[in-house]
Amino acid sequence: MSNDGVNQGRRRFLTGATCVVGAAGVVGAAIPFVGSWHPSAKAKAAGAPVKANISQIEPGQMITVEWRGKPVYVLRRTEAALASLAETTDKISDPNSEESLQPTYVDPVNRAIKAEYLVMVGLCTHLGCAPMFRPEVGVDPASGNADEQWLGGFFCPCHGSKFDLAGRVYQGVPAPTNLEVPPYSYESDSVIVIGIDQEGA
Ligand code: FES
Repeated sequence: MSNDGVNQGRRRFLTGATCVVGAAGVVGAAIPFVGSWHPSAKAKAAGAPVKANISQIEPGQMITVEWRGKPVYVLRRTEAALASLAETTDKISDPNSEESLQPTYVDPVNRAIKAEYLVMVGLCTHLGCAPMFRPEVGVDPASGNADEQWLGGFFCPCHGSKFDLAGRVYQGVPAPTNLEVPPYSYESDSVIVIGIDQEGA
């Protein structure tokens, strides 16, 4: 089974474990009780935060969570994946994310609060296609042929942009910047909240 197959299956299961944060701030307001627990479609579109349980993501696997109508990828990186970032740096356009969108409280290179979990918007910074997760080391993400230069990452099929395992864009492709890291925070070790900044940031 391909990794895609695994990820699709896990995605269906794990996406079901996500939910929109209840609007606790409206308690006491003159609206029906049920309304305080289920933000309207309008509120969701406007950007209600979304929680994701990350406790069941296996090392090397990725889930997709919807936030503000966008796919947000949550990838649990292995030690090898994190180590690969030092090797890709020379081929990356913006290795320290100085020109790319990400919160100030994430590491500039591995682009995460906790290095093990990468959280980023799954839309290509060229024209907005959804890049595909291509973790297979040594396999060209476009052709599927052997390519010992490829250390795993993301590949946008629309015009061929490539990103490493921190969502950093390779030089010489159409995408101008790294994939966006959204605001997010840890509610606990197993739950992240997308759309709410890390406290103290
Ligand atoms: S939209 Fe991704 S390369 Fe063009």
